Amino acid sequence: MQVALNISGKTRVFACISDPIEHVRAPSVLNKLFEKHCVDAVMVPMHIPPAGLETAIAGLRAMPNFGGMAITLPHKLPMMAFCDEIGRQGQLVGAVNFAAFDDQRRLIADNCDGKGFVDGMLAAGFEVTGRQTLMVGAGGAARAIAFSLADAGVARLGIANRTREKAEELAKVVKAAYPNVDVSANDGDPRGFEIVINATSLGLKATDALPINPELLEQHQLVAEIIMNPVDTPILKAAQANGCSIHYGRPMFDHQATIIAKLFGYDFSAA
Ligand SMILES: NC(=O)c1ccc[n+]([C@@H]2O[C@H](COP(=O)([O-])OP(=O)(O)OC[C@H]3O[C@@H](n4cnc5c(N)ncnc54)[C@H](OP(=O)(O)O)[C@@H]3O)[C@@H](O)[C@H]2O)c1
Repeated sequence: MQVALNISGKTRVFACISDPIEHVRAPSVLNKLFEKHCVDAVMVPMHIPPAGLETAIAGLRAMPNFGGMAITLPHKLPMMAFCDEIGRQGQLVGAVNFAAFDDQRRLIADNCDGKGFVDGMLAAGFEVTGRQTLMVGAGGAARAIAFSLADAGVARLGIANRTREKAEELAKVVKAAYPNVDVSANDGDPRGFEIVINATSLGLKATDALPINPELLEQHQLVAEIIMNPVDTPILKAAQANGCSIHYGRPMFDHQATIIAKLFGYDFSAA
C-alpha cells in the first residue's frame, strides 16, 4: 500500500547534506521508499556550506528525532572527523556518503557507493565474483567501486585512467587491502576481460570522447556504466552495437538508497 507523506510530531527526520544543494537526488528517492513502505519518516535537503559542517553536525546530534543523513560533496571527506564509527569501506575509500545516529547519539558512517554498484549488478543478474574486470576511472566513484569489487571477490581488476598515476595508486591500495585479488593499472585495453566498467565522467556530455576503444570490445563482454544521465551513454550504445550486454548507471544509485535506509533502521531489501 502506498500512503501520502503525512508529517506529524512523530515523523523521524533525515537529511541529505550538500553544498550546493539544488542537484541532490537522495531526498526524492528516499521519500518515495518511505511512502512505499508506509514509514513515518522524511528526508529533507540541507544546504550546509563547508565552514558550517561542524556546527551543523553538533546541532543535528542534539536533536533526538533526527536520524541520519546522506552525504554528498564536498562533505564526504571532512565528515569523517565528526563520526564516532566508520565502516570498513568508508575507511578504505577515505570518504563516507551516509551516516546515522545510534541510541547514544553516536554517529555511525560508511561509504556505499561501491556496494551500491555491486548490488545493482547482482540484482540485474550479473555476477562479479570470480570475474575478470576492467574499470576505467580512478576518481571518487571509481575508488569506492574498486574496493567493493575486490571485496566481492573479482578474480582480476584492471584499472585504467587518463592520469595513470592515480590508477597505479588505486591499484596499490586495493591490492594492499585485498591481497588475494589480482589488481593492476593498465592502459584500458578491454580485450580479455569479462566486465568493462566506465567509472569516469566521460559520457555526461555528448561531445565527450569514449572511455575505451569500442572496436576492441568482444561480444561476450558486459559493459557497465555509472553515469545516470544520459541513460544511454555513447559507450553503452557502442557496446550494444558490438553485441555486448550492458548495465545502466541508475541501479548503483537505487541500491545505495536501500543500503542507506537500512542504516537508518528500515530494511526494504526483501520487499
Ligand atoms: N550512479 C551513481 O550512483 C553514481 C555515483 C557517483 C558518481 N556517479 C557518476 O560517476 C562519474 C564520476 O564521478 P566521480 O565522483 O568519480 O568524479 P571524479 O572524482 O571527478 O572523477 C572523474 C573521473 O573521470 C576521468 N575523466 C574526467 N574527464 C576526463 C577526460 N576528458 N578524459 C579522460 N578521463 C576523464 C577522471 O580522470 P583523471 O583522474 O585523469 O582526471 C577521473 O577518473 C560522474 O559522471 C558521476 O555522475 C554516479
